[in-house]
Amino acid sequence: MRIAVIGATGFVGSAIAHEVTARGHQLTALTRSGGFDATDPGDRLDGHDAVIAAVKGDATAAAHALLAAAPARLVFVGGGGSLTTPDGTRLVDLPTFPEQYRKEALDAAAALDVFRAADTEVNWSFVSPPPAHLVPGDKAGGYRAEATDTPLVGADGDSRITTGDLASAILDAVENGTFRHQRFSAAY
Ligand SMILES: NC(=O)c1ccc[n+]([C@@H]2O[C@H](COP(=O)([O-])OP(=O)(O)OC[C@H]3O[C@@H](n4cnc5c(N)ncnc54)[C@H](OP(=O)(O)O)[C@@H]3O)[C@@H](O)[C@H]2O)c1
Repeated sequence: MRIAVIGATGFVGSAIAHEVTARGHQLTALTRSGGFDATDPGDRLDGHDAVIAAVKGDATAAAHALLAAAPARLVFVGGGGSLTTPDGTRLVDLPTFPEQYRKEALDAAAALDVFRAADTEVNWSFVSPPPAHLVPGDKAGGYRAEATDTPLVGADGDSRITTGDLASAILDAVENGTFRHQRFSAAY
């Protein structure tokens, strides 16, 4: 497949870009410093089988612009802060949510609202990583990926995944066409 990764030099995007090439796909690596703006993609996404975005900044503008670019498949990496407690309270709205991540988490949560409100044929998925423990690291395997609004928690009570395995879960979703018009998470 020909796959564009927006944010390919970032913490999450670099792991995704690595997984794209490791699986033998053709990678188009796009970054802001490389002259690509996710909020104004123009025609540069045309011809790709899938577009994966893992950017920071104006997430709602990026969501609108990427939907308007109408890629065949779009996976948007947001945050874990829009996941909820069992009673439906968003983690970002809890007083215990770390203040330094609140703005970014609210931006990503607003982007999720953009996707869910969109009347679109674009096959989009929104990825929420584990809220606290998306950790740098290679693939270990054994993760679960599920459409969920609450964090996926392992047997040890923690919600955790490496960037390598999150990237793997995202490429699984692209290759298998799963999680159409859904938010999903992945964790051990
Ligand atoms: N636990 C969690 O929930 C969690 C943890 C980490 C990350 N995340 C989410 O993952 C996503 C990516 O975060 P990150 O930590 O990987 O970010 P990062 O390390 O700061 O990397 C951001 C990447 O996006 C590019 N970029 C930024 N704005 C762009 C734009 N307008 N157009 C094109 N490229 C742009 C940057 O390129 P330049 O370097 O050239 O500017 C860079 O490659 C975010 O949605 C973040 O909320 C979630």
